[in-house]
Amino acid sequence: MDNQREIRKNFGKRASKYRKSTTHGNQEDLLRMLKLLKPLPDTVALDVATGGGHTAVALAKYVQKVIAIDITPEMLEEAAIHAAKNCVTNIEFQISDVHNLPFATGQFDLVTSRFAPHHFYDIKTALQEMCRVLKPGGLLYILDCSVYDGAETEREINRIEYLRDNSHICSYSPRQWQELLQKLPLKLLQTSFIQTRYVLPDWFERMEVEQSTRQEVFKVLDSLSAEAKALYPYDANYITTYRFEFVAAKLS
Ligand SMILES: C[S@@+](CC[C@H](N)C(=O)[O-])C[C@H]1O[C@@H](n2cnc3c(N)ncnc32)[C@H](O)[C@@H]1O
Repeated sequence: MDNQREIRKNFGKRASKYRKSTTHGNQEDLLRMLKLLKPLPDTVALDVATGGGHTAVALAKYVQKVIAIDITPEMLEEAAIHAAKNCVTNIEFQISDVHNLPFATGQFDLVTSRFAPHHFYDIKTALQEMCRVLKPGGLLYILDCSVYDGAETEREINRIEYLRDNSHICSYSPRQWQELLQKLPLKLLQTSFIQTRYVLPDWFERMEVEQSTRQEVFKVLDSLSAEAKALYPYDANYITTYRFEFVAAKLS
């Protein structure tokens, strides 16, 4: 599978950058997640596409056990370093693909995935699998990069993301998330659409983006319509981005 190969290649050689990333390790975001989820001491959680392990480690301090999966071995090594630095010992790391989870139906109280669904080559199957392994009443939490609703932003902002990282599949708009979620056995409890910024040099550096590609990104931004530009302010140092976050409970 080409996409899986690209993901392993792209993340494998930059794994430590993701563990050290202030975007992924942002404490405000992680605290908001904990407040929303209110994990309990007997909670058993699955963290999907754990990357540098920020979500898994934040949860592990409050729950019985976290199973943290990822398809990139180097990422799991970095996540284990992050856990050890935080003296966290209740995370099991496992190489697995979200599209085919090796877990029993209804096994988990909580399933999380941050900054990862935009890489999943079949989002419908990935979401079905995450729902399947949840217990009835269990919670699904997702935070991912998103784009503003509308044909132009859904197309052009994803074009920029793909220029930066060719394993990018799609940052879904809130409209697209609603469509995906309504087909699943879930009750939405909370959604947020959050405007934020990437510090451009860091965002480019994390993926070691070449200068010519950086110029292409600015060309796409410069050619956005006035309406889209108003939603996506940028300059040489930052670019506006959006995130979609939700918590949903699995229906019995
Ligand atoms: C940006 S990192 C995730 C960050 C992390 N969740 C956090 O909270 O900091 C994206 C991760 O998704 C993983 N990934 C991509 N596709 C996957 C798949 N199909 N199954 C499991 N992991 C996947 C990549 O290997 C990478 O480690």
